[in-house]
Amino acid sequence: MTAPWPYPRWIAHRGAGKLAPENTLAAFRLGAQHGYRMFECDAKLSSDGVVFLMHDATLDRTTNGVAALGSSASPTGGDHPWSTLAQLDAGGWHSRAYAGEPLPTLENLARYCIANGFFLNIEIKPTPGHDEATGRAVGALSARLWQGQAVPPLFSSFKPDALAGARATAPHIPRALLLDTLWDGWAAVAQQLDCVAIVCNHALWDAALVTQVHAAGMRALSYTVNDDWAAQRLIDLGTDGIITDRVDLFSPAAGG
Ligand code: G3P
Ligand code: MG
Repeated sequence: MTAPWPYPRWIAHRGAGKLAPENTLAAFRLGAQHGYRMFECDAKLSSDGVVFLMHDATLDRTTNGVAALGSSASPTGGDHPWSTLAQLDAGGWHSRAYAGEPLPTLENLARYCIANGFFLNIEIKPTPGHDEATGRAVGALSARLWQGQAVPPLFSSFKPDALAGARATAPHIPRALLLDTLWDGWAAVAQQLDCVAIVCNHALWDAALVTQVHAAGMRALSYTVNDDWAAQRLIDLGTDGIITDRVDLFSPAAGG
């Protein structure tokens, strides 16, 4: 039996895809301006336990960390305390318009989403070696932040140990297993973790896989879908959610 699904079909990847610096509040605001009501973000832990938003394990692609901290500093974001990470420029790499944009905490984004009635997919993206601890921290924080809200966030992760950690501290917040390949045992792991959804690389979905996932009582979601033909294929297959960079191409208000 498939549980009710409160989330919209269309989900803006990292806030607004590539149109704004990923995983910054400016990006989520831009995604909202394009009509999106649900966002995906990537969450990891600072060295002193603050949950913040960044995709890569290392600082170099999306912050000025190397220049600001010096080349002798650790390149790994999770090796630094939040007091250091909070000083970095996470927007200047993208364009001048966003220079000085800071890294947000998950709490910053939660407050924005809750205040505006937006839905959030929190991808738990641990620094390597910190899977379970990151899941536990994201779970505990989210349980506190969304307490009393009608719709909780949706957790997802490629890392089963991260989802297990989140279940330990926030068993009531729904979980989804992310899959880039259909590795041996994925379905059993998803069931053991009581996952409500599978979020696949969109090319993996076919009719048989959609039937298998739905028969197991789970929803079928896809990342990262940036072409009309691919989105139409997933809708025709009866899948339930689409994560996209192309907030400028796909209009959630148009339905579908
Ligand atoms: O959560 C879906 C998608 O974001 C997973 O891949 O590498 O973009 O975090 P990635
Ligand atoms: Mg992600």
